[in-house]
Amino acid sequence: MPSLRVAIVGATGYSGEELVRLLVRHPKVEITALVSRQHAGKPLGEVVPHVPSGIGERLLERLLPGELADRAEAVFLALPPGSSAAFAGELYRRGCVVFDLGPDFRLRNAKLYKEFYGWDHPAEDLLADALYALPEWYRGKIPSARLFALPGCYPTGILLSLLPLLERNLIARGSVVVFALSGVTGAGRKPEPRLLFAELADNAYAYGLPRHRHLAEIEQELDSWSPGGVGPLCFIPHLIPVRRGILLTITFRLARASVTDQELWDAYQVRYHGEPFLRVLPPGSGRAPNIRDVAGSNLIELLAGSDPLRGTGWVLAALDNLGKGAAGQAVQAMNLRFGWEEPLGLDPYPGGPI
Ligand SMILES: NC(=O)c1ccc[n+]([C@@H]2O[C@H](COP(=O)([O-])OP(=O)(O)OC[C@H]3O[C@@H](n4cnc5c(N)ncnc54)[C@H](OP(=O)(O)O)[C@@H]3O)[C@@H](O)[C@H]2O)c1
Repeated sequence: MPSLRVAIVGATGYSGEELVRLLVRHPKVEITALVSRQHAGKPLGEVVPHVPSGIGERLLERLLPGELADRAEAVFLALPPGSSAAFAGELYRRGCVVFDLGPDFRLRNAKLYKEFYGWDHPAEDLLADALYALPEWYRGKIPSARLFALPGCYPTGILLSLLPLLERNLIARGSVVVFALSGVTGAGRKPEPRLLFAELADNAYAYGLPRHRHLAEIEQELDSWSPGGVGPLCFIPHLIPVRRGILLTITFRLARASVTDQELWDAYQVRYHGEPFLRVLPPGSGRAPNIRDVAGSNLIELLAGSDPLRGTGWVLAALDNLGKGAAGQAVQAMNLRFGWEEPLGLDPYPGGPI
């Protein structure tokens, strides 16, 4: 029996669409509102034709936050940066549980927000109440929170890769370089020349340099979990011609040249034993994480290694930007918030090659 009324704002964007896909078959929730400005009045299936019938006939609506608060107990905001606060403030004050997939409540420091996003924080008074909802590291705080800032897609992969190694002091300060590849849904459904098929097909390019916006939350979380911090970090994201998925190659100097593959593996085993969505490949497993093995799921796959002769180490990670990097992680947080099984309604297996 569904027990929770949920609404999705930004339901026709890429993350919103993935939320619909996951929430429509979640056994504990009922979708009571789908919000869109451009497509208000149309059935969802007319804008997103591949949604199942039942939800496909539901009308998209343009609703004010107060109207949403009457219709839903939990609201997912899948809106562009700077747009969530207009909904989050009123919903939060009216007692709703808010899951914001955008960046507006991720940074605890409003000055840093302005520095990275270019405008004043739209709801600074709410920052102290927001929880950075990376379930594997903030699980204990999730049940008592009501305003959830879901981590960005790159930060999810980078933090899950690095935090266990930092906890064990295996990484030399100031040595981390992140080379990232992302599928094009990571940029959202907006029309932009650089996202045209003719620009990206048979191509790949870096973007967001020199300081991609995600760098701020990555550094915030690395610093707060690892006293002394990891030091300056170099993050270079690239767009590649795939629809969904992120591949990370993270390199660093080892804190001690003698750190072995086994020590890196042990750090993950201690931290992630029993985690439903982390698949850490054993040293020498003979295969590297890749996008196809995780796309369409809430899984993140990791493989770490070291070269003690040279004192270098690396982590490879693959995740789905719309899954563990966005909508899947939001559903995971919702499950924890309402005391349900953590994997409820989430894809246990990736889509595979066909
Ligand atoms: N794409 C990813 O892989 C990913 C991963 C993690 C986090 N995120 C974050 O999640 C959020 C949504 O990303 P997305 O990629 O799904 O974006 P998107 O595809 O561009 O969709 C955004 C949606 O928001 C609505 N919208 C646009 N401007 C609005 C405004 N000013 N007020 C209210 N609604 C507005 C649009 O629908 P209407 O115009 O019809 O209202 C649209 O459906 C972003 O903050 C993004 O940073 C995205």
